[in-house]
Amino acid sequence: MLARRGALLFVGRKQELNRGTQPVTLDNDFVRAQFPAFAEPSLEGQAFFENAGGSYTCAPVIARLERFYRSRKVQPYGPYEASRLAGEEMDEARQRLAAMMGVGTDEVSFGPSTTQNTYVLAQAFRQWMRPGEAIVVTDQDHEANSGPWRRLADEGIEIREWKIDPGTGMLDPADLDALLDEQVRLVCFPHCSNVVGEINPVAEITRMAHDAGAAVCVDGVSYAPHGLPDVGALGADIYLFSAYKTYGPHQGLMVIRRALGAKLPNQAHFFNADTLYKRFTPAGPDHAQVAACAGIADYIDALYDHHFDAPAEPVARGRAVHDLMRAQEARLLQPLLDRLADRNDLRLLGPRQAAGRAPTVAVALDMPGALAAERLAGRGIMAGGGDFYAVRALAAQGVDPDHGVLRLSFVHYTSTAEIAQLIDALDEML
Ligand SMILES: Cc1ncc(COP(=O)(O)O)c(C=O)c1O
Repeated sequence: MLARRGALLFVGRKQELNRGTQPVTLDNDFVRAQFPAFAEPSLEGQAFFENAGGSYTCAPVIARLERFYRSRKVQPYGPYEASRLAGEEMDEARQRLAAMMGVGTDEVSFGPSTTQNTYVLAQAFRQWMRPGEAIVVTDQDHEANSGPWRRLADEGIEIREWKIDPGTGMLDPADLDALLDEQVRLVCFPHCSNVVGEINPVAEITRMAHDAGAAVCVDGVSYAPHGLPDVGALGADIYLFSAYKTYGPHQGLMVIRRALGAKLPNQAHFFNADTLYKRFTPAGPDHAQVAACAGIADYIDALYDHHFDAPAEPVARGRAVHDLMRAQEARLLQPLLDRLADRNDLRLLGPRQAAGRAPTVAVALDMPGALAAERLAGRGIMAGGGDFYAVRALAAQGVDPDHGVLRLSFVHYTSTAEIAQLIDALDEML
C-alpha cells in the first residue's frame, strides 16, 4: 500500500459552509496556509501576478522533495528500502494524478518540460505520418505546441493554420470545420491561451477532430493551474501541462491515451517500447521531481477534505476542487476585468467576462509590456511583460511582440486584498 497524505500536510479547521445548503466557497486562509511563500518574509507585501509564468509551490511538494533528497535519493526500484520507497513514490505520483484526471496510470508520463514533450511527440508523428497528410495548428498557441509541429512541413506534411479572430483573439470552431478532411491526422490547440485567456471548448473541438479521423494534442499548460481537468471526459488523445505552473516542481506532464500511444513509434530505448509511460520520454526521469508531483495530489486532496464531507473517487474529488478554484478565480477576476475594460488607454486582450476565461490577463499599452511590469514591481506587484512565447498570437491580434504586453495572472490562492493592491497600483502607474 502506498503512503497517502498524512504527515506532509498542514491541517486547518474544517470549512463550515458545506454543512448547509449554501454553495461551498474556497477557504482562502486555508489555501494560503498550504503555500510557504505566503509566510516568507522576503516576499511579504509583494502581490504575485506572474503565476502563468510559474506558480508558488505547495507545502506537500516541497516536503516530498526534501524528503526525497534526504532519504530516498538513490537509484529507484531496487531491492533495498530507500530505493523501494523512491520507486513507490514515483509510481504514486503517476497513479494519483492519473486517477484525478480520469485516465489510466500508464497514460501519464513525465518529461523535463512541456516544450520538450511536444518536441519528442513531434518526432513520433514525423515517423508515423506520410507526405501529403496534414496537421492543424493554431496561431493562438504558445510556441511549444506550434513550432515543433510546423517543422514537420520539412517532411512534406501539410500544415494548416486555424487562425484566431484578430479583434477578439478567439478561435472559432466553425473555422476549424473548414480545415478538416481525411488528410488531417492531428489537431493541436490550447485549452487556454497564455495571452488571450479564453477557455476553448476542448470536448467539442475533440469531437470534431475525431469525426474527421484526427487525433488532438491539447496544450493545457495555461489551464491546469486553474483546476486539474478531467481529461477522460474531455476525450483528448494528448493533454499536456507543466507541474511548475501547477504548484509543483519543474516537470512537464503528458497524458497520452493508450490507443494513440500504441500506434505512434517508440521514442525511448527499444526495450522500453512496451511500457506506454516510457515510450515518449527518451530522457532519464528526474526521480525526485516526479516523486514530488504526488504532492500536487496531496494538495488537491487536502482541499477536498477541508471543504467537503462526502467520500468521493479521485476524479470526483479533482472535479470538485477544480470547480471551487474556478468559482473563486471568477469572483476575483471580474472586478479587475471591469476596471481594465473601463479604461481607454489600454487594450484588454481576450474576453471581458470572467466566466469563460482564465485569470491570465494581457493588456497592450502605449509603453512596452516589460516597462509596465518594471513600474509595477516598484509598487509591490510581481507581474511580467513581453511576448510570453506567444509571438504568433500577439502578432495576429496586431500587437507587436517586441513591444509586448503586460500580463497579470493569478490563481485561486490570490486574495481579494492582492487584487485591490493590483488595481491601485495600475491606477497609479497608468
Ligand atoms: C501555454 C503554454 N504552453 C507551453 C508552455 C511551455 O511550457 P514549458 O516551460 O514546460 O516548456 C508555456 C510556458 O510558459 C505556456 O505558457
